[in-house]
Amino acid sequence: MLHFEKASDAVGIIATGIDLKTITDAEFAEIQKQFFDHGVIFFRDQEMTEEDHIAFAERWAEIEVNRFFAAVPTHPQIALVLKEPDQTKNIGGGWHTDHSYDQIPAMGSILRAIDLPQTGGDTLFASMAAAYEALDDDTKAEIADLKATHSSRHIFGYGAAEAGEVGERFSNADKATQDAIHPVVLAHPVTGRKAIYVNAAFTTGINGLSEDDSTALLQKLYAHCMQEQFSYRFEWQPGSIAMWDNRSTWHWALNDYHGQRREMHRITLKGVPLAA
Ligand code: SIN
Repeated sequence: MLHFEKASDAVGIIATGIDLKTITDAEFAEIQKQFFDHGVIFFRDQEMTEEDHIAFAERWAEIEVNRFFAAVPTHPQIALVLKEPDQTKNIGGGWHTDHSYDQIPAMGSILRAIDLPQTGGDTLFASMAAAYEALDDDTKAEIADLKATHSSRHIFGYGAAEAGEVGERFSNADKATQDAIHPVVLAHPVTGRKAIYVNAAFTTGINGLSEDDSTALLQKLYAHCMQEQFSYRFEWQPGSIAMWDNRSTWHWALNDYHGQRREMHRITLKGVPLAA
């Protein structure tokens, strides 16, 4: 029977008693509610093919193909999140939210474990809604009407150090050309809950502030958001799936398994424009 248990106080819900290949509409509605309420949903022991992964994703929304990640060769809808034993750099190895550099950022991402290291390779998740709620009133007022610019250029564009180190796992540097402007505090498009929407990977500055003031405010927000009480560490097992809401969470793929292989398959889902 479908059952939910909180992963931590701030973020994440663990769903058990479910086979994602055969969920009913009623079960799907319950999963959706829990997902939006908790920001990340975890499933264990799922025996899925690439087609099953795609079918589950399409129940949520149209698939947003990531233009920079290499795809699974047989399934262009699925991005390959891979680190080979001889590689040192992983993908997603720092706090971020996927696709914030897009004008309409991806709603969510569904990550499926394919090949896991014997040790390490966990993923951290953090609630940006819980982080927002814990801000003091002065900071809430200070950031209420601010907007920030997000970009893919410095990560995926020509000459980006990150892309160079990740090598052939990233491509399409010529498509890293547009920036996006989003509110620093968004109202979640489904729940209305407010969340901080800046991240150290893709946010390049707060609009209307000097570079120094922008950097100082971003660093203050990042230090606040990185506090342990807002996060949860997910330990992957064969058959695990994690699905996260890119509008209300950050995540970080830990890179602590050098010399071992880790392969994950990720599908991102189309979102909607964001508003304060
Ligand atoms: C990602 O940042 O999308 C990858 C997360 C992971 O590999 O755990």
